[in-house]
Amino acid sequence: MITFTRQAGFLVLCTFVVGTWIGFFWREAFVSKEKQLIQSTQFMKKKSFPLQSVSELRKGDKLNLSKCSMPKRNIFFMKTHKTAGSTVQNVLVRYADQHDLFVGLSENADFRFHYSQGLFFRTSFVRKTEKEINMLCHHMRFFKQQVMSIMPEDTMYFTILREPSAHFESFFSYLHWHNAAFSLVPQSMEGLNVWLDDPEKYYHGKKDGNNWWFAKNGMAFDLGFNNNNNDELYIKKAIDDMTSTYHLVLITDYFEESVILLKDALCWNLMDMVYLPLNARSDKASNLTDSLRTKIKNWNKLDSAIYDTFNKTFWKKVHAYGREKMYSEIKELKKLNQQLLAECVDGDSVENAFISNPDNKPYNPEGVKMMGYNLKQEAKDEKFCQDLVKTTKAWFKFLLQKQYAYSL
Ligand SMILES: *[C@@H]1O[C@H](CO)[C@@H](O)[C@H](O)[C@H]1NC(C)=O
Ligand SMILES: *[C@@H]1O[C@H](CO)[C@@H](O)[C@H](O)[C@H]1NC(C)=O
Ligand SMILES: *[C@@H]1O[C@H](CO)[C@@H](O)[C@H](O)[C@H]1NC(C)=O
Repeated sequence: MITFTRQAGFLVLCTFVVGTWIGFFWREAFVSKEKQLIQSTQFMKKKSFPLQSVSELRKGDKLNLSKCSMPKRNIFFMKTHKTAGSTVQNVLVRYADQHDLFVGLSENADFRFHYSQGLFFRTSFVRKTEKEINMLCHHMRFFKQQVMSIMPEDTMYFTILREPSAHFESFFSYLHWHNAAFSLVPQSMEGLNVWLDDPEKYYHGKKDGNNWWFAKNGMAFDLGFNNNNNDELYIKKAIDDMTSTYHLVLITDYFEESVILLKDALCWNLMDMVYLPLNARSDKASNLTDSLRTKIKNWNKLDSAIYDTFNKTFWKKVHAYGREKMYSEIKELKKLNQQLLAECVDGDSVENAFISNPDNKPYNPEGVKMMGYNLKQEAKDEKFCQDLVKTTKAWFKFLLQKQYAYSL
């Protein structure tokens, strides 16, 4: 009996001691797990802040992966002026940054490849690197042989064009005081009318000095053609040349369709394509009369013919893609862009003067109002948001540092 009691007492004691310890450990384990859970949820909440739209994007993505298995990594974007190219470029550099693709950059402090002198591109304009170059997407005057010699063989070549009368008006207004021929008349619709009544009176080609090429066939100049040549035969040659160079030619005037076709050609996801319009003017293209449009097209025959040809090709591609698929994806894209705007941006786009972060301030020539973004207070530390609204110049600085360990 005594033995039993002693044994029982020992057992009770053991049970008590062990139980207490188990309870203690169990409580500790549980509580710390809960703590961890709370912390990780907070972490995720913070991390996923702008990505709420991105996760929705994944769900909504209608990309058919069976058709498309290898996302393109080697890309040449011939960035033309005043065609929404900055918005496309922002999509490209964000992807490059996320996937550690190498973006070839200018060897001097200007992010354009010696464009200010109007020189044809040369490989020596690219800052030296041991790495393979995956992307070129900054302003240049195209020179096919030189570009092809620096890009990998499987590179996807694309560019973007804009309806020539809207494009010319944009040049006339945006670069008015940077072009000798334009600056001889007022920076207004009346001025444009007067100018187009007798372009030869104001335009003297190279003799006009800095940026002279913006006043005639400005897109063709960027694309590497002779912008003074409006002859039928030359136009045909230029178009054939472009057809053999570019896998895809986007059209600014149908920007959303363009973005979807680009997604398809690059084999990327819809979430890779989100954007906020960058480097836009606040005073949108004014109403151009039909007679003004006709005058602009006559003066810029080369640009006009190139545009008309590739606009037709573009719409063939839209039809081939499937209109229904196209418009359901555009709907999705618009929704995502709007969500990003709501999550990242304080209000909507604002004029240059009201942008507080210098990295988000677009280049603003005289007499125009350029637009950009201020991030919401809670979005200021979110890389995804920062990257969306950063200017070309700020990206250039960032990529120089990241890729070349070079600081401007
Ligand atoms: C993707 O395409 C294949 C072949 O065209 C088709 O069988 C499949 O159903 C498509 N998948 C989706 C999700 O649309
Ligand atoms: C453009 O012109 C058309 C026809 O003259 C007119 O109906 C329209 O309101 C104008 N739009 C703007 C924004 O001025
Ligand atoms: C582009 O092409 C489409 C289809 O041919 C046509 O409807 C449209 O008017 C063209 N756009 C311009 C601006 O010429």
